[in-house]
Amino acid sequence: NVFRATTTAPVNIAVIKYWGKRDATLNLPTNSSLSVTLSQRSLRTVTTASCSPNYPATEGDTLTLNGKPENIQASKRTLACLSSLRALRKELESADPSLPKLSSYPLRVVSENNFPTAAGLASSAAGFAALVRAIADLYELPQSPTELSRIARQGSGSACRSLQGGYVAWRAGVKEDGSDSLAEEIAPASHWPEMRALILVVSAEKKDVPSTTGMQTTVSTSPLFATRAEHIVPRRMTGMEEAITKRDFAAFADLTMRDSNNFHAVCLDSEPPIFYLNDVSRAAIRLVNDINRLAGKTVAAYTFDAGPNAVIYYLDEVSELVGGTFKTILGGELEGWEGPFGDRLKGVS
Ligand code: DP6
Repeated sequence: NVFRATTTAPVNIAVIKYWGKRDATLNLPTNSSLSVTLSQRSLRTVTTASCSPNYPATEGDTLTLNGKPENIQASKRTLACLSSLRALRKELESADPSLPKLSSYPLRVVSENNFPTAAGLASSAAGFAALVRAIADLYELPQSPTELSRIARQGSGSACRSLQGGYVAWRAGVKEDGSDSLAEEIAPASHWPEMRALILVVSAEKKDVPSTTGMQTTVSTSPLFATRAEHIVPRRMTGMEEAITKRDFAAFADLTMRDSNNFHAVCLDSEPPIFYLNDVSRAAIRLVNDINRLAGKTVAAYTFDAGPNAVIYYLDEVSELVGGTFKTILGGELEGWEGPFGDRLKGVS
């Protein structure tokens, strides 16, 4: 009698970035953020959660990531997710005593990414989203993805945006207990089916400065940061939601690129300065600018997370132009790329 559930969770790439925490324990952000969920054909985590009265209690809960055992006890974030999910299961069991007491059995979680971990490709987002979804399924929890986002957020902030598809906003919230810091889908992927994402793997190495550390440095040392969090981002969130609702690619692209640049500007403004972009990243920025100039309008947008890898958003009608240009000009510089939501330009240069 082993109880088991398997699920997958996609990666999301923010177009308005989360950077900075107002509460590092609860993982509450200083500003709202908005992301596009990538197709699971491209980047995803697959996770199986199981529990059984026969699993030795002495082993406790276990987590295996890409074939390697992880030390759960050393990860407060994982422990926080597991205990929140168990508490919800306990509520169900107290309401209905006929249910099996899954909450009292040790848990085994086995997770695999199909992309490099910690290379600035949002692996923690897909990882924690899949962990929460798999255990919620195992426990047959009735909570909605938005309610579960509160738990995933404690694992990794950006993970709260990976429980839903399409265009997802994470509202920063104002409450101290974080109960209003939740993710909500503002439009499904089908709302804008022409949207494409090209992932340029500039480096698959682990990132220099992990996001959690980088954020803390920025919050405590960057004079520019307050302006970003208080004035720049709130206006951009409104503009971005409007651009998505109207399917206005030029506005979407303009805000995406500006917000990526502003995020990397506050990183540079930190003490010591944080550099995530490298020469190839900067070449990708110039290439997007050239493509837009040659097209006579904005047809492509770049964005970078806490690493040098670029994500290029564009519409299907310019797939050949964007894919062809990157392949010709930067192909030799890249370690690989994934085409429009994983379908095209698959393979390594
Ligand atoms: C630059 O979600 O990895 O990708 O909450 O500390 O785990 P923690 O941080 P994390 O930060 C992601 C930062 C970002 C921007 C974003 O995804 O919004």
